[in-house]
Amino acid sequence: MNADSDAATASSAAHKSLRHVQQSLEKQLIGLDTLVERLLVALLSGGHMLIEGPPGVAKTRTIKCFADLLSVQFVRIQATPDLLPADITGTDMYQQQSGQFTFLPGPLFNQIILVDEVNRAPPKVQSALLEAMGERQITTSGVTRKLEEPFLVAATQNPIEHEGTYPLPEAQLDRFMFFIHLDLPDVDNERRILDQVLTEAAEQSEAQAVTPIADSQSILQARRELSSVFISEAVRDYIVRLVGATRGYGAGGVSADSIAQAASPRASINLALAAQATAWLDGREFVTPDDVASLAPDVLCGRIALDYKARASGISTRDVIQTLLETTPRV
Ligand SMILES: Nc1ncnc2c1ncn2[C@@H]1O[C@H](COP(=O)(O)OP(=O)(O)OP(=O)(O)O)[C@@H](O)[C@H]1O
Ligand SMILES: [Mg+2]
Repeated sequence: MNADSDAATASSAAHKSLRHVQQSLEKQLIGLDTLVERLLVALLSGGHMLIEGPPGVAKTRTIKCFADLLSVQFVRIQATPDLLPADITGTDMYQQQSGQFTFLPGPLFNQIILVDEVNRAPPKVQSALLEAMGERQITTSGVTRKLEEPFLVAATQNPIEHEGTYPLPEAQLDRFMFFIHLDLPDVDNERRILDQVLTEAAEQSEAQAVTPIADSQSILQARRELSSVFISEAVRDYIVRLVGATRGYGAGGVSADSIAQAASPRASINLALAAQATAWLDGREFVTPDDVASLAPDVLCGRIALDYKARASGISTRDVIQTLLETTPRV
């Protein structure tokens, strides 16, 4: 880490409190440091997250613990096939006393929205959600209402396809900054998880409410600070080369052949914004090619789709992204 730049950001109260959030979360979530970092980066750069993983790997716990550490409005939406768009956006209700309609805001009028099992929600609800994510506003009966910043949607889904699920279409996956895949923990981490849950259960009786560490003001201040993190011409070129490689330009030719849908410009934009937030969290005033390379799999994964042949031969999207990273020169 650069000593000068560290000194510059170390003086920022916003940086201190968000690093504190990061460290507290790392303690509560065993072996999930990368997920924690991505979550903070999404919050700081106005992105949203999709977390996929088998049952019981702390998807819900992650978002709940995260929201507990922030004094922002948090809501959890359990997606089900009978959910209606108005259930999440809100609706105009007739008031008998006044004889008028008044708007009753739905759960989307919060700041951190956990949408559990998003692929169980019907397509109309998914589009209402994705519209709110993209536009950061909601329109009902011709009236548009702005959502309060910071606004972050964290959606979870199980990879196993059940009856009654509606997988998010690729075009809609593009709305998420990150698509994170969680695996089952290894034996060591499993043991640490067990110890932690047993300790927490024992301490439950004396448990005190968690005190939030950061508020909206510090998050918005952090956003202002990180927007001036420097991205050199060389790093911008690298981002574009990497995204271009998914379209078959440059060295990625062979693996790009198996890509049916390449990454959109949103991929480049999200890579750049996420890299700035990552560098800021790390106490740097500049982005490195390493920031971009380490973020690329989680940014690109939901944005590219493999063709039928590649999928049939068992290649995963992440394998292809790995090859693109290895074959694309950083400078
Ligand atoms: N890495 C971990 N760190 C700490 N606790 C964990 C971890 N993995 C699992 N747990 C514990 O496992 C339990 C299940 O977690 P959680 O309910 O968040 O899973 P989930 O991924 O949301 O599952 P589902 O897909 O079924 O909703 C919780 O009690 C949680 O404390
Ligand atoms: Mg869950």
